[in-house]
Amino acid sequence: MRGMKLASNVMILAALMLSNQVFADTAPGADKSQGDAAKGEQIATQVCAACHGADGNSVMPANPSLAGQYAEYITKQLNNFKSQDGQRPERENAVMSAMVAGLSPDDMKDLGAYYAQQTPRPGVARDKSLAEQGERIYRGGNLDTGVPACAGCHSPNGVGIPPRYPRLAGQHSEYTRAQLKAFRTEERTRDVSNEMHMIATRMSVREMHAVSEFISGLR
Ligand code: HEC
Ligand code: HEC
Repeated sequence: MRGMKLASNVMILAALMLSNQVFADTAPGADKSQGDAAKGEQIATQVCAACHGADGNSVMPANPSLAGQYAEYITKQLNNFKSQDGQRPERENAVMSAMVAGLSPDDMKDLGAYYAQQTPRPGVARDKSLAEQGERIYRGGNLDTGVPACAGCHSPNGVGIPPRYPRLAGQHSEYTRAQLKAFRTEERTRDVSNEMHMIATRMSVREMHAVSEFISGLR
């Protein structure tokens, strides 16, 4: 019984992935309302560089690197940090909520365009044996608990699949781990399909740690 339920959960996730794939393929291309990278650069160097690095390669493990991330994803996250009509924001973080308070919708697009053009600096996993355990989850998931392979949505080399599935490759392990936890506790949720919440609730702390270590060296 338990096995069947898990198997059907895996199938639901597989179906979600497929439908999203189709959506990504048929989504209109780069034509509509692109941000202005030069304007984005001005804001980025004046306001964001202290924490995310001038070129979007952050050196502090709690602050995510943004270089090479998809513009659509960055713009979406900036919106998610913003509280609408005094409601709880979709993504809760005191620092970033303060940062986005003064940004207009165009600023958010410009910032997305700027970071998407920056070159991500490759990372190296520090704990090789932990990273090996993480690689198994990244590529194969965990059939026993219904965790799907991360590679299915974030791509085998971690570059993601625009516009919905973010790049993960080379990201700080500490940051990735914190996000998996936030997806589980719903500090970060109410995403269209809630995929990451469903996945994170099935992962052990050990698995989160391992997969984050692997991702930090993925290229
Ligand atoms: C004081 C440090 C600080 C500053 C300044 C700052 N950030 Fe952040 N930023 C963070 C932290 C910490 C996080 C992780 C938040 C979390 O855990 O959810 C973050 C997360 C983000 C994310 C989400 C990345 C992802 O992969 O999902 C984006 C996008 C972002 N910041 C953009 C910006 C932009 C644009 C600016 C300038 C307008 C900025 N940040 C200024 C600290 C900072
Ligand atoms: C069914 C598709 C799917 C699968 C499988 C999947 N993800 Fe995701 N993931 C998403 C989506 C969609 C987002 C973007 C959520 C948002 O817009 O806030 C995301 C976001 C993330 C983020 C946040 C990135 C950032 O920069 O803040 C992390 C970390 C992450 N996923 C890790 C994983 C890991 C680890 C696995 C495997 C255990 C995995 N994902 C499997 C769909 C998926």
